Amino acid sequence: MNILVTGGAGYIGSATSYLLIKKKIKPIILDKLIYKNDSIIPKKSTFFKINISNLKEIKKIIKKYNINSVIHFAAYKDVQESIKRPKKYYDNNYLITKKFINCCKKCGVNNFIFSSSAAVYGNLKNNKKVLENSPLKPISIYGLTKKKIEEHLSKISDKKFKFFSLRYFNVLGADKNLKYGPIGLKINSFSNNLYKSIIMGKDFKIFGNNHNTEDGTPVRDFIHVDDLADIHYKSLLHLIKYKKNQICNCGYGKAYSIKQVVNILLKKKETNFSYTFDKKRSGDISYMVADVKKLNKIINWRPKHSNLKKMISSELRWKKKIYKF
Ligand SMILES: NC(=O)c1ccc[n+]([C@@H]2O[C@H](COP(=O)([O-])OP(=O)(O)OC[C@H]3O[C@@H](n4cnc5c(N)ncnc54)[C@H](O)[C@@H]3O)[C@@H](O)[C@H]2O)c1
Repeated sequence: MNILVTGGAGYIGSATSYLLIKKKIKPIILDKLIYKNDSIIPKKSTFFKINISNLKEIKKIIKKYNINSVIHFAAYKDVQESIKRPKKYYDNNYLITKKFINCCKKCGVNNFIFSSSAAVYGNLKNNKKVLENSPLKPISIYGLTKKKIEEHLSKISDKKFKFFSLRYFNVLGADKNLKYGPIGLKINSFSNNLYKSIIMGKDFKIFGNNHNTEDGTPVRDFIHVDDLADIHYKSLLHLIKYKKNQICNCGYGKAYSIKQVVNILLKKKETNFSYTFDKKRSGDISYMVADVKKLNKIINWRPKHSNLKKMISSELRWKKKIYKF
C-alpha cells in the first residue's frame, strides 16, 4: 500500500513515515523543505521536493502511485510567528491546504488524515481537560487556520471521502536511535528554548507567571512523537476499515505546568540552567490538557513513551547531534 505523506521531511511527518515503513507501508513524501534539510527523510520512502500548491504535479503523483490515503502534515507551525505574519499562515495553512484537499478528493482519494492542533480551542474558562466537543475559540491565526480546515473537511466529506482530524497537544521527544526529531531551531517552541538554555547557557524564559493556573505558569500536556506516529498508523487503519469521520485529541491527559517541568529538570546536574520570568505572550493559552478517552476508545490506543524526563532527554540528544554541539 502507498500512502501520500505531505510534510514528511518535518518532525512528525518523518517519525510517522519511519513507522509506516516498519509496518510495510510505503510513504510517498511531498515536502518543500523549508528547513533545507533532507537528511531526516527515510531512505525507503519516495520523495518529491514540491509545494502542495503545485496541483498539476500532485495529480500526476496521486495517479502514478495509485494513492487512496493521504496523511497531511505540511504546514507552518509557529504560533507566535502566525501572530506577526498572519498572511503567511492564512495562505499556506488555509488557502493552499484547502485547494490541496479538494484536489485529493477530485483525484479519488478516500481517506484523509489531518494534523490539527489544541490551538483550535483557545483559552477555556475553567481549567478542565478539554473535550473534542468543547467550543472552538482559537486565539491565534495558526489555531484559526486549523479550525477552518476541519470545517472544510466536514463540509466536503461524503460517502467516498472520509477524514480523521487529530488535534495534537504539545509534541516532544526524538527517536531513540536519533534518526528523527524536531528541526528548525528558530521556531518559538518550549523545547527549542529549553535546548538553548541547557546546552547554550541562555536564560530560560517562562512567559507569564500570572496565568490562570495553580502556579501562574502555563499548563501543558506533552506527548512523545513516537506515540503520535502510532496514533496516525492506527487512525489510518481505522479510517480505511470503518470509513467514518473522527476528530480526536492527541495527548496523555497529564497536566504539567512549565514551572513544574523546570523543577523536574533542575533536580539533575546534566539538565541544569537558569530561568527568568517574562511577560505573558499573546496567543499563549494558559491551560491546555487533553481528555483522551475518545481516542483511547476509538483506536484502542495506549501510550508507550509517557516519561517526561526521557522525552526531554531524547530530544536534547537529538539536538546536540544535529546542531553539532
Ligand atoms: N509540533 C507540534 O508540537 C505540533 C502541535 C500541533 C500541531 N502540529 C501540526 O503538525 C504538523 C506537522 O508538524 P511538525 O512539528 O512536524 O512541523 P515541521 O515544521 O517539522 O514539518 C512541517 C513540514 O511541512 C513542510 N511544508 C510546509 N508547508 C508546505 C507546503 N506548502 N508544501 C510542501 N511542504 C510544506 C515543511 O517543509 C516541513 O518539512 C503541522 O501541520 C503542525 O501544524 C504540530
